[in-house]
Amino acid sequence: MNLNEQQRRAYLEAIGIDVWLPRGETDEEVDVQDETAAIATDDLDWLALRAAVSACTRCTLHETRTQTVFGVGDPNADWMFIGEAPGAEEDRRGEPFVGRSGKLLDQMLAAVGQSRQSVFIANIIKCRPPHNRDPAPEEASSCRAYLERQIALVNPRIIVAVGKIAAQNLLGTDAPVGRMRGKRHSVGNVPLVVTYHPAYLLRSPSQKRKSWEDLCLARSIVREAQA
Ligand code: URA
Repeated sequence: MNLNEQQRRAYLEAIGIDVWLPRGETDEEVDVQDETAAIATDDLDWLALRAAVSACTRCTLHETRTQTVFGVGDPNADWMFIGEAPGAEEDRRGEPFVGRSGKLLDQMLAAVGQSRQSVFIANIIKCRPPHNRDPAPEEASSCRAYLERQIALVNPRIIVAVGKIAAQNLLGTDAPVGRMRGKRHSVGNVPLVVTYHPAYLLRSPSQKRKSWEDLCLARSIVREAQA
């Protein structure tokens, strides 16, 4: 089965339409998506992308998730925040950054005049890794095309990479956050700023000042683009 056909079926199933298969093509045959194959998300609109994510079985995280965590906010936002992966609370509620670190993220947003409704918030991966372990590289790469399509659809003026895992995945490096933050990077033609993860800031509140500086840098990039 080619990928477009696979995506069409995933989409139909996700919106509750039964998919009839020719005799001999069993559920088993169509159930497993090929995680090594590239997925074509370039033509997907928000609805189709959301449906493809919620039907995704490209890596084993689908076996343990309660639900996928797609992302939240303004689909035309100037600011896009990208975190690591859903935690337990996010997996339960289907929304990114709703646990303890999410509350701090909300305060960080408010400090630069934003809110979870005015920005778009997503994660590198859309399913919770069991026991909140770091996402494996193959899980991040299975999910990459969904994130790339989200970035293309939002077309933000700035991406803020929240924490080490997000920054390293987006920038393709293993540099520590301390070396990546405080600078202007880019992903394609979208400027990107790295900051500390709120979970880290909860453990190391003395770093909050640096995180504030990172958000000020991001804000100056947005203002520059608006001028
Ligand atoms: N941490 C993240 O990186 N993302 C979430 O959605 C929640 C916690």
